[in-house]
Amino acid sequence: MKPDTCNPSNANSSLSDRKDGTGGTLYPVATMTRSDKEQLLHQHGMMIWFTGLSGSGKSTIALGVERELHRRGLLCRILDGDNIRTGINAGLSFSPEDRRENIRRIAEVGKLFVDTGIITLAAFVSPTNEYRQLARNIIGNADFFEIYVSTPLQECERRDVKGLYARARRGEIKDFTGISAPFEAPLRPALDIDTSQLPLQESVRRVLQLIDNIQQPTVNSL
Ligand code: ADX
Repeated sequence: MKPDTCNPSNANSSLSDRKDGTGGTLYPVATMTRSDKEQLLHQHGMMIWFTGLSGSGKSTIALGVERELHRRGLLCRILDGDNIRTGINAGLSFSPEDRRENIRRIAEVGKLFVDTGIITLAAFVSPTNEYRQLARNIIGNADFFEIYVSTPLQECERRDVKGLYARARRGEIKDFTGISAPFEAPLRPALDIDTSQLPLQESVRRVLQLIDNIQQPTVNSL
């Protein structure tokens, strides 16, 4: 039988033992668990982490996936430069230290979504294995799935959606990934998608298939 997690006497003692800065108890009663939330939503929380060059198609694929998940009645949250670098991380630059801090905060926020049972899609350049490993460590290996959007630099630069590559080539933007700052390809991504080779619909389909494969075993046991 499922334990009564709302009853303090049944609460996990480690929760009620936690103290705030003044010595007060942080959680007088047990919090609702991730499992409670997943049962409410009938879905399994996870982090799908897209990495790749600027203009590679990360956010575009994520938007397509979100639309289809929504249509199926699954709750999803996209985190990308549009909502993170303009908000919580507005003060951060593209220096190596600030990129690391960018990724650390995204991972901490993303973990909260995953712990709420939400299918979370993060679309960030996240240019090094070290930054992505940091995100994986924060979120937890079992919930972290890396997708490499491997569209070649030449194609990203040809698209130059925001005109940033041209500016970087003129030396107007320093530390620009792929031009004057490094990008390390992931070693073992769960998926590798080159949007110069695959139509958007097919890229979206592959990500949905990955999500389905992760969802199914857990959702069946909810
Ligand atoms: S990350 O390296 O810290 O993970 P993030 O994904 O948040 O980068 O932001 C990348 C986006 O910021 C790019 O798609 C591009 O639009 C913009 N940008 C501005 N300056 C740079 C830069 N120096 N390097 C890469 N992207 C930049």
